[in-house]
Amino acid sequence: MEIVHTIHEIRDRVKQIKLQDRKVGFVPTMGYLHRGHLSLVEISKKLSQFQVMSIFVNKMQFNDPKDYANYPTDLKKDSAMAEEVGVDLLFIPDDAEMYKNNLVYVDIDALGQNLCGAPRAGHFRGVLTVVSKLFNIVQPDVSVFGQKDIQQAVCIQKMVNDLNFPIKIVIAPTRREEDGLAMSSRNKHLKKDERANAACIYRGLQKAEAILKAGERSSQAVIHVIEEEIRKGNPGSIDYISVVRYDDLSLAESIDGKSVIAVAAYFGTPRLIDNMIIDFEDGRVRCIY
Ligand code: PAF
Repeated sequence: MEIVHTIHEIRDRVKQIKLQDRKVGFVPTMGYLHRGHLSLVEISKKLSQFQVMSIFVNKMQFNDPKDYANYPTDLKKDSAMAEEVGVDLLFIPDDAEMYKNNLVYVDIDALGQNLCGAPRAGHFRGVLTVVSKLFNIVQPDVSVFGQKDIQQAVCIQKMVNDLNFPIKIVIAPTRREEDGLAMSSRNKHLKKDERANAACIYRGLQKAEAILKAGERSSQAVIHVIEEEIRKGNPGSIDYISVVRYDDLSLAESIDGKSVIAVAAYFGTPRLIDNMIIDFEDGRVRCIY
């Protein structure tokens, strides 16, 4: 596996690969890799012949400087994991390489304001700006994002459609620990009891699936069973439990088309997020989480 730090180097390398008619897959990350990230590379490998991963902790998407300062990093371990899963080229730029007097941003009004956008003003502007820069730098054919950050994934898909990036976006299922907790770099900050309690989010989603499969379609009813289950896990606070339409992430009073149930709750300092996509096939409900 090669590691490069400059835009010039990565562009040169990807150009050579494209001349060989090989498709380039890309997994952007902020590092501190876990099996969830690796599963994105596994999916990318099925769709392309050369794997690029980036590691860049993007200051622009953090609205809390403490959150940015505390973001965990371990480049040595990350490089070993990336190599093992089959990444061919690892791009690790620094701030100066990525942002030189940046005055242009990519933003999304409608989809970025609710859910995680509400308490984190400017977050999705930071994400979309860095992802569009990375797309222009790497020029991949395919890029894979995790379902756990569903609002991010839907916003990126919309950006790619609206701004005509010639890139296929794939949304990969959430990887989970044995008790169902969604894998996240933030889990490292959970204390022992918080870690054990945090699996209540997954149990809440399971309860929601059960009532949806029994015919319930009211968003309020679904939110109620999830909240009941999460409260059992003694969260510091629940930021939101929301049911939204998949396409525009607007609030939905009832679940009658493709939808997302999204959850964010604090367990100690970490704010954990999780979600379930609900879809209908031949009139039957399908829950993906
Ligand atoms: O999901 C992440 O890790 C980040 O938001 C991303 C997509 C790498 C952009 O910084």
